[in-house]
Amino acid sequence: MKERETFASRLGFVLISAGCAIGLGNVWRFPYIVGQYGGAAFVLIYLVFLVIMGLPIMAMEFAVGRASRKSILASFQELEPKGSKWHWYGWFGMAGNYLLMMFYTTIAGWLLMYFFKIAAGQFEPLETTEAVTQAFNGMVADPVMQVVFMAIVVALGMAICSRGLQNGVEKVNKIMMLCLLGLLVVLAIRSVTLEGAVEGLKFYLVPNFDNLMYDAEGNFRLGQAIYAAMGQAFFTLSLGIGAMAIFGSYIGKERRLFGEAINVGVLDTCVAFVSGLIIFPAAFAFGVNPDAGSTLIFVTLPHVFNSMPGGRLWGALFFVFLFFAALSTITAVFENILACWMDKWNISRRKAVLANLALIFLLSLPCLLGNNLWSGVKLLGMGIMDFEDFLVSNNLLPLGSMVYLLFCCLPARYGWGYEQFLAEANQGKGVPFPAKLRWYYTILLPLIVLVIFVMGYIEKFF
Ligand code: PHE
Repeated sequence: MKERETFASRLGFVLISAGCAIGLGNVWRFPYIVGQYGGAAFVLIYLVFLVIMGLPIMAMEFAVGRASRKSILASFQELEPKGSKWHWYGWFGMAGNYLLMMFYTTIAGWLLMYFFKIAAGQFEPLETTEAVTQAFNGMVADPVMQVVFMAIVVALGMAICSRGLQNGVEKVNKIMMLCLLGLLVVLAIRSVTLEGAVEGLKFYLVPNFDNLMYDAEGNFRLGQAIYAAMGQAFFTLSLGIGAMAIFGSYIGKERRLFGEAINVGVLDTCVAFVSGLIIFPAAFAFGVNPDAGSTLIFVTLPHVFNSMPGGRLWGALFFVFLFFAALSTITAVFENILACWMDKWNISRRKAVLANLALIFLLSLPCLLGNNLWSGVKLLGMGIMDFEDFLVSNNLLPLGSMVYLLFCCLPARYGWGYEQFLAEANQGKGVPFPAKLRWYYTILLPLIVLVIFVMGYIEKFF
């Protein structure tokens, strides 16, 4: 049997895991839901969920990956008690990875299109937000250009993965991540020194619990806000579908896994935090409503950049950075999918890449067509993109996290076994897993996750 690939360095591992975590969730989703749920108070709740829920579950995913040395399709089989059915979840997790990519590639394509549009100065003549909105709507109404850009995204991601773990994914992501962190800081400095930025900083950093509890019309919405904060924590840390577990399978035993989870969580949070520092001061400085929703970046930022000196350059840089963040997530998820194929069917990386290049391209088409030719298609009352997002974010991520949680914390008769999990997680140097809180992991945390799930459904359908 051939030796499994490993990372060249620990920094490579931390950065690639962070690259998977840092993506549209940080730079597009985080600011817009913070804007919708009233700013700083929401951020506080979100941070609480990252710590009480995100970090332990991430350590568990890493542990399953590292102990099994396998991707999600085979990892449970390796560790479960004989005759149990945990490994069935592997297929759901795989489906989750595909589903996520089915809409992620389209949005990444938009980022790339925006980069070219802004660099070419196409937004410069558009003075009002309405005009920019129209330009955005015009863009998504055109299936051909979107197919072209989505195809570029899929091909780029696969090209990076095809070069193998160390040369491809690890090297490229390391460079991308470092550029990205640098760019973020530059843009944030530009944004917070804008005239009128102070109001935005207040909105973002000074908690106002009324804003959290009531929406603009004065309706009570605390439950929804908590649900959104928890969901965002799962999404941003990439938990529940083995996206983190795969990287655990490529590392050595030198480091304790809880400490590594903290590193990744801190990096991820820094990027989300700085994204907010870029967006809110700018939004307030230029009179853009932070409550604009999922179009916040696409519809309002070009307008914001338009009103800035040198906006064409800043705008182009910003969208390049956004695109890099999305692409590093895409390569990470592609890597997970490819590893599944290689583990399960014992085929070469090359073959797995070719097959998935075609498969993911085809699977990404419905989402993209849902914005134009198939805009009449509604599933459970949602458009195709929203439906795919709903399946992943509201179903597979919380349920999958619960699977990892119970697999690691139940007695060995029923799952992997808590002792086995602890032994794996605590191998090496670094911060040990908080082992004494077992009751909390086995009883309270699944309850919390269940609540997210139920609330997700209630919010969606009632
Ligand atoms: N965390 C990624 C982001 O913020 C999204 C993601 C979710 C990736 C689940 C993998 C698994 O964009």
